[in-house]
Amino acid sequence: MKVLVYGSLNIDMVFAVDHIVLPGETISSASFARNAGGKGANQAAAMAKAGLNVFMAGKIGRDGEFLLQHLHSYGVDTHKVSVYGGSTGNALIQVDKNGQNSIVLYAGGNGEIRPHEIETAVASFNSGDIIVMQNEISRAKDIIIAAKKRGMKIYLNPSPYNEKIDGLPLELVDCFFVNELEGASLAAMPKNYPFTEILDGLTLRFPNAEIILTAGKNGAYYGFGGMREYAAIVDAPVVDTTGAGDTFTGYFIAARAKGFDIRNALKTASKAASITVSRKGAMDSVPFAKEVFS
Ligand code: RIB
Repeated sequence: MKVLVYGSLNIDMVFAVDHIVLPGETISSASFARNAGGKGANQAAAMAKAGLNVFMAGKIGRDGEFLLQHLHSYGVDTHKVSVYGGSTGNALIQVDKNGQNSIVLYAGGNGEIRPHEIETAVASFNSGDIIVMQNEISRAKDIIIAAKKRGMKIYLNPSPYNEKIDGLPLELVDCFFVNELEGASLAAMPKNYPFTEILDGLTLRFPNAEIILTAGKNGAYYGFGGMREYAAIVDAPVVDTTGAGDTFTGYFIAARAKGFDIRNALKTASKAASITVSRKGAMDSVPFAKEVFS
């Protein structure tokens, strides 16, 4: 099985702050770092670190070429990432003293995907292969349709959740990865609904799709038709939550590909995410297989 991640590659500009800056306030940061990130690139790195055969497609500017070096060093095939004349996507990230973050995105190359690039990117994939997508690049609808035509399974992490999600052919998606807020939005339910009801709502709306719902400290839920599974979180000191969801997604897919049952895949993904939150950064903080599969 080959995995194609068609998604975002970002330069993460990370400011370590006491608290997330308030409207009208100016604060100083204790440190600054320019890290490799982007939900797509982080998920690609996670799956490659976990041992899968991963290809990345997307677009960057020359300023982002270091992202390819990072991905390459983790075993991701990056030859489907194109370099254009503009700038790479940027994420302005504040991480507060409790490890919680807030993120402002600038799309850059992520917003410059062209139709002919999509056909080229999916051309070497077939049924048995999967595509993993998020909501940080343009032309996601065209990508889903092109991948489905090739018989690929569609894995979607509709994050960040916004109005663009409603325009996607969601009925073609085989597997959704959502947190509790994204899940509630997708199920058209209030944000404070019990997780199990959100999960029920999603399995009703998408009867042919697997649903993985992560609920932070409250663990991770799985639903497919009438089937349900659950795993508690693996506790860890929180240094920086950036990339934790991407790690969970990547390691869940990898664990399933390695033959783990659902519950053990949830546990494995939770363990991997707990290691990511205990470290600073995004792509580079994702653990390697030997740290997780033991
Ligand atoms: O999920 C974390 C990622 O979201 C960061 O690396 C940032 O680039 C944003 O895309």
